[in-house]
Amino acid sequence: MGISSAESITSVLQETRTFPPPAEFTAAAHINSEAQYQDLWERAKDDPNGFWGEMAAGLHWFKKWDKVLDGKMPDAKWFVGGRTNVSYNCLDRHLTTWRKNKAAIIWEGEPGDTRVLTYQDLHREVCKFANVLKKLGIKTGDRVTLYMPMIPELAIAMLACTRIGAPHSIIFGGFSADAVAERNNDAQAKLVVTADGGWRRGKEIELKNSVDASLEKSPTVENVVVVRRTGSPIVMEPGRDYWWHDLMHEASADCDAAELDSEHPLFILYTSGSTGKPKGVLHTTAGYLLGTMLTSKWVFDLKDEDTYWCTADIGWVTGHSYIIYGPLANGATTLMYEGAPNWPHDGRFWEIIEKYKVNIFYTAPTAIRAFVKWGDEWPNKFDLTSLRLLGTVGEPINPEAWMWYHHVIGGGRCPIVDTWWQTETGAIMISPLPGVTTTKPGSCTKPLPGVVPDIVTKSGESLPANAGGLLVMTQPWPSMLRTLYGDHERYVRTYFSEIAGCYFAGDGARRDADGYYWIMGRVDDVLNVAGHRLSTMEIESALVSHPRVAEAAVVGFPHDLKGEGICCFVTLTGSDGDDQMKQELKDHVRKQIGALATPDMIRFSNALPKTRSGKIMRRLLRDIAAGREKTGDTTTLEDYTVLATLRASEE
Ligand code: WT7
Repeated sequence: MGISSAESITSVLQETRTFPPPAEFTAAAHINSEAQYQDLWERAKDDPNGFWGEMAAGLHWFKKWDKVLDGKMPDAKWFVGGRTNVSYNCLDRHLTTWRKNKAAIIWEGEPGDTRVLTYQDLHREVCKFANVLKKLGIKTGDRVTLYMPMIPELAIAMLACTRIGAPHSIIFGGFSADAVAERNNDAQAKLVVTADGGWRRGKEIELKNSVDASLEKSPTVENVVVVRRTGSPIVMEPGRDYWWHDLMHEASADCDAAELDSEHPLFILYTSGSTGKPKGVLHTTAGYLLGTMLTSKWVFDLKDEDTYWCTADIGWVTGHSYIIYGPLANGATTLMYEGAPNWPHDGRFWEIIEKYKVNIFYTAPTAIRAFVKWGDEWPNKFDLTSLRLLGTVGEPINPEAWMWYHHVIGGGRCPIVDTWWQTETGAIMISPLPGVTTTKPGSCTKPLPGVVPDIVTKSGESLPANAGGLLVMTQPWPSMLRTLYGDHERYVRTYFSEIAGCYFAGDGARRDADGYYWIMGRVDDVLNVAGHRLSTMEIESALVSHPRVAEAAVVGFPHDLKGEGICCFVTLTGSDGDDQMKQELKDHVRKQIGALATPDMIRFSNALPKTRSGKIMRRLLRDIAAGREKTGDTTTLEDYTVLATLRASEE
């Protein structure tokens, strides 16, 4: 769906089913009435200083802030003059309470090995690794890349970085060596923490080998710390590479948390934009911590007795905010699973829920569609009655998948929180409150306290109920990104120049007559593949880097499991393309970017549809990729015959 040709976006979705929260759920919920929600929301909107100041009292401060909010978007600062520490808030402050010996992390590896770390255990390991970082010369402000499997050492490394104020940059283990090098260079990372490998569907992901290849192109990295996970042979370069266990063996478990400024950089996380290289979204200390802590409590209704499981990979923001920082700041028990949902069988998730008696389960629509496909017999084999709350994130959920989740997984008794947010927002922005909000399948419902969205036209006018437009935020919020690392100008241009005075991050949406938000997807040339943003431009550059490719255009098309599939229209030099060439190009993109970006469809064509000014008309390609016969307005098309040729090009 594009917004280029129309002021507003036409919505075709009609959904009238409603699901009020069960009375028992409401009775025990942290936020338990519409009036309470309304009061919080109005107060936060009218008096952000008072509201957020009150909320921030829930954090530990070494020094209290002088001012809650200073300045306005794009350069709003929060809790100015305050000093705090994320690792201290997630660990130390629980140690003087009964939670000292409570499970902080319950971990299950893909092969079935398990580990439980209490808050005391986690604190000890984090302090030790913080000392390891110091010993390797890492100082407050230095950037550390974490390229790791989903093992407890990843959580330990994150918290150790935050303890000494060294911003981490986590790179999803599915990314290739080139992608790692690009991110290392952009962040000027000094250290990489990795593992020999990780397990995924019984196969090993060779992380250390990728790091070795990436380091040929990323000269700022001085050392590599390697966790032994799979035990397969790797090369350790003397003087550069160290084993995690060797360094930890010698490290002291005594390490005070650094007293960091509220606005001290906490982490960088790379995310796709429509043009250029990946954007290094930068989050800072106090605001991010407060946002993830409060939303974990409000949206997941986290209680001390809960076993909470978010299935995301920590390489994405969901894992940062809702496996680690939000839950641990609340003193919760968070479950972490290394592997795939369908290994060694399609019921692995349900088996884990039964085994640990999981109460809260947070996953993505793309996973839910896969579960539907694998069949009800899998969840039906396991006891899922411990579940009390379900959540989704990453893309709009189709109402039928929502209904399946509600009935088959939730047994009809669990509220579903459909949470809208982004890497940039740091924390959940629009979501049901499970004890309050009557849900409608497919809607992320209403803004949380402190979030003041609007739906506007391209010229910034507020739209009436049910008109689709651009989703914007009209007020700053504590957990918002502060900049794009090393490129503040791009930050201002990307998020704040589209609509004056507002934050805009690329989604179309409408608001219904009840004030419920319905996200309609991204409006720019960014795909949402399996709940993750991929830039069409990056895939195009990867294709064009192949010697046989003259030109490429990449678009999304509806895909049953992934939400959006990747379709590449390619013009070759020399002879015609064949199946072998298609495979070669798929492998090429996979190698350049990573498995996540592997094209689903390659179509060869001698020419691409262009405007007279030479712009590729992706809108038309999207229609063709989706198999739509009739395409939209073609009056600006330079050469009409191209369309017929493209339609004839088959997959
Ligand atoms: C984009 C952000 C936030 C973590 C996962 C992805 C889409 C996210 C929803 C939802 C409809 C959603 C949006 C957003 N999105 N959650 N509940 N309903 N769409 O993080 O990679 O930063 O992507 O994901 O398009 O802009 P991300």
